[in-house]
Amino acid sequence: MTPDVSRETPALPERWGFALPALERYERRLATVGLEWGLIGPREVDRLWNRHIVNSALIETVIAEGADVIDVGSGAGLPGIPLALVRPDLHVILLEPLLRRSTFLEETVAELGLEDRVTVVRGRAEDRPVPPARIVTARAVAALDKLLGWCWPLVAPGGQLVALKGERAEQEVEQAAAKLKKLGLTATIRRVADTTAVLISKQ
Ligand SMILES: C[S@@+](CC[C@H](N)C(=O)[O-])C[C@H]1O[C@@H](n2cnc3c(N)ncnc32)[C@H](O)[C@@H]1O
Repeated sequence: MTPDVSRETPALPERWGFALPALERYERRLATVGLEWGLIGPREVDRLWNRHIVNSALIETVIAEGADVIDVGSGAGLPGIPLALVRPDLHVILLEPLLRRSTFLEETVAELGLEDRVTVVRGRAEDRPVPPARIVTARAVAALDKLLGWCWPLVAPGGQLVALKGERAEQEVEQAAAKLKKLGLTATIRRVADTTAVLISKQ
């Protein structure tokens, strides 16, 4: 049975109008199959839209036109799937090591008709299973210090790591200070809707 995912729809950017049916379809899939498969906790169902889907899609504001994206540790597809839905110019790889999650992702990509520009790869970031991309995103995967070690080789020259960090952004940047210094990098903290992104650019 499809649960009632009643919610208040926040004012979405007008430019996303075309993507609304697909975003809602993804929300329903998370609330049904995602919940059944244990990828989404029961307490998350009521806040899928605002906290997970809209916040994920809003990182599009920091992503350049036509970029290729690797979403490291995509889980049930966050932020990679909402991002791909609102930005048809992007090519996205959803990188996820766990079988159940990567199976869910493959089925979701097919259901949403995204196969031509969204690819699921089962693997770990540190094994570099895919070539570097201009943008590497990660949300709730690991502390910035560890994430840098895993993800930095996946960022192409001229590209950027976009780590969604929420409340802990500043603290994690401080904790990663030694590694950032060693690599000669500067992290920029940017508020994006209700969350906070840490942006690190590669020369
Ligand atoms: C807490 S979940 C977050 C999932 C999703 N990004 C989100 O925001 O809902 C962390 C995910 O990172 C994946 N993961 C853990 N270590 C990883 C690694 N070394 N490389 C790639 N993914 C990894 C896990 O399998 C898991 O799906």
